[in-house]
Amino acid sequence: MTENLKGLKRTALCTAFNEADIGKTVTVMGWVHNYRNLGGVLFVDLRDRSGILQITFRSERNGELFDKASQLRNEFVIAATGVVSPRDQEAINENMVTGKIEVLCDELRILSKAQTPPIYVEDNTNTNEAVRLKYRYIDLRRPEMQHVLMTRHKIVQSAREFFNKNGFLEIETPMLTKSTPEGARDYLVPSRVNPGTYYALPQSPQIFKQLLMVSGLDRYYQIARCFRDEDLRADRQPEFTQIDVEMSFVNTDDIIEINEKLIAKIFKEIVNVDVKLPLPRLTYKEAMDRFGSDKPHIGFGMELVDVSDLVADCDFKVFRSAVESKGSVRCINAKGCADLFSRKQIDALGEFVKTFKAKGLAWISIGANEHKSSFAKFLKQEEVDAIIKKADGQPGDLLLFVADSNKVVYDSLGNLRLEIARKTGLLDDQNVYNLLWVTEFPLLEYDEEEKRYVAMHHPFTSPMDEDLELLDTDPSKVRAKAYDIVLNGTELGGGSIRIHSTEMQNKMFSLLGFSQEDAQSRFGFLLDAFKYGTPPHGGIAYGLDRLTMLLTGRKSIRDVIAFPKVQNASCLMSGAPDKVDPKQLDELKIKNIE
Ligand code: AMO
Ligand code: AMP
Repeated sequence: MTENLKGLKRTALCTAFNEADIGKTVTVMGWVHNYRNLGGVLFVDLRDRSGILQITFRSERNGELFDKASQLRNEFVIAATGVVSPRDQEAINENMVTGKIEVLCDELRILSKAQTPPIYVEDNTNTNEAVRLKYRYIDLRRPEMQHVLMTRHKIVQSAREFFNKNGFLEIETPMLTKSTPEGARDYLVPSRVNPGTYYALPQSPQIFKQLLMVSGLDRYYQIARCFRDEDLRADRQPEFTQIDVEMSFVNTDDIIEINEKLIAKIFKEIVNVDVKLPLPRLTYKEAMDRFGSDKPHIGFGMELVDVSDLVADCDFKVFRSAVESKGSVRCINAKGCADLFSRKQIDALGEFVKTFKAKGLAWISIGANEHKSSFAKFLKQEEVDAIIKKADGQPGDLLLFVADSNKVVYDSLGNLRLEIARKTGLLDDQNVYNLLWVTEFPLLEYDEEEKRYVAMHHPFTSPMDEDLELLDTDPSKVRAKAYDIVLNGTELGGGSIRIHSTEMQNKMFSLLGFSQEDAQSRFGFLLDAFKYGTPPHGGIAYGLDRLTMLLTGRKSIRDVIAFPKVQNASCLMSGAPDKVDPKQLDELKIKNIE
């Protein structure tokens, strides 16, 4: 029989006690983390959220109690009352918060017994992630998981405090709503009351936060749950959380300025880092040209070098034809890597870039007197010299080239740059935080599959004033008032100044190939709202999961979400998604197809 708490009150969490409490009688409650029965004396490491406290049972103090304590096993839940006492000199553990004391137990209640847990409640376990996720409630007992969840909590509180001090209102927006256009597939919820119709779960609160600006609420924030049915990766979940923000009467600089203060506050409070403001800014074009990525890791060099003009007329057909077909030839200079990478390893880098659609990887390995190269034999000496000069090649450097469409060149060299940085230890320092803004994104991108333009951010993003005329002549060249904040090569957040006129919004919809009826039926309520007095407005949303992941040094956002989903969007613990009772489907007027 297990016991209950009748008449018993917990004094405090386990690590609240220290030498100043010696002599006091206290009651603590928690899990048996470990026990050692030395015969006559039994030590229990009692664990709760705060840490560990040693509870000591001595048979000479109370024989009956000692026998009861001998039944304890790992993960039993107990309440122990006893006297805080100093540990024997040789038992002092300086590495433990409570390492100088123990509680000599006088009363023990076994509140819950536990079967042998399927996973260890220890950090640095090698337990397979699938098993951890199936028994997530045990996995979350591990101190490092508790630390992550506490940090996540602190980040949210830090942000809330900032917003509350700066005149933002926290307002909730609906979960059962209409489709919101963030570019992923919607999760749909059938309506029982209106058979054949569906709510969509929000991909973000985008439209609602804009409507709140139309309503005059001026400054909004929300810790908002978002749902996107898209392929999962280490930094993507089907449901995730945004720190979502919208402001009225602002331009890009106003939004960036206040958000930099928010970021600085969070970094100071969570990782004790002084973020230097203002953060660097790169335009999208600069980011692509220099780093091959719109979320560049700027913590190291190895920037892309365009050598197209030097090889436009050369005899290496691969290079020449890439330039002829309006692509480019670019390289990165892996400094000092000539002897670090064997031929075989360079071939492996070639395979790596193929995953980004490159057709090959050409290279020059610069020696003290002569160079080795996969293609130099096709070039004149002065062409090779000019390339090496432009790439700032020194003896010992390895130059790596991709010739292709700009998109493939950026993608493959941008990723190769990161791969080499990883392999050569440039990214090893966990405590470095490289933050920057990327601005002036293209408004539109051409979707080859759908044969139409799609919004690069979302369809409510305002074009840049300077580019308005291009909307009619060359839409692909129009830049947007859109910005992303990037941390160590991860997109942490993104936002934009919004379109706030019905005419411009209609124009945007027509560029995106929506018919008038389409636009009206999907977003009519927003277009209507714009007719009744709309302030200029804009905002941003941060991925809270990604921010927590980076600030806790984790590799996957699954580690910073209490109950995450796996690759196929299922929950290994609850078994969701699952079949439902046919009766429920009948009520929803849905036919199950087996
Ligand atoms: P966006 O779609 O860029 O913008 O999302 C903002 C941020 O949310 C995070 N994020 C994700 N995190 C985990 N899993 C996902 N599947 C996922 N998708 C996005 C990223 C991203 O930077 N309404 C706009 C914001 C605005 O314009 O104000 C929006 O949702 O960190
Ligand atoms: P080949 O003459 O086909 O043996 O190619 C010579 C070198 O050019 C090899 O190192 C190939 O990997 C490389 N190569 C082939 N196609 C490309 C490309 N599109 N961009 C860069 N290098 C390439």
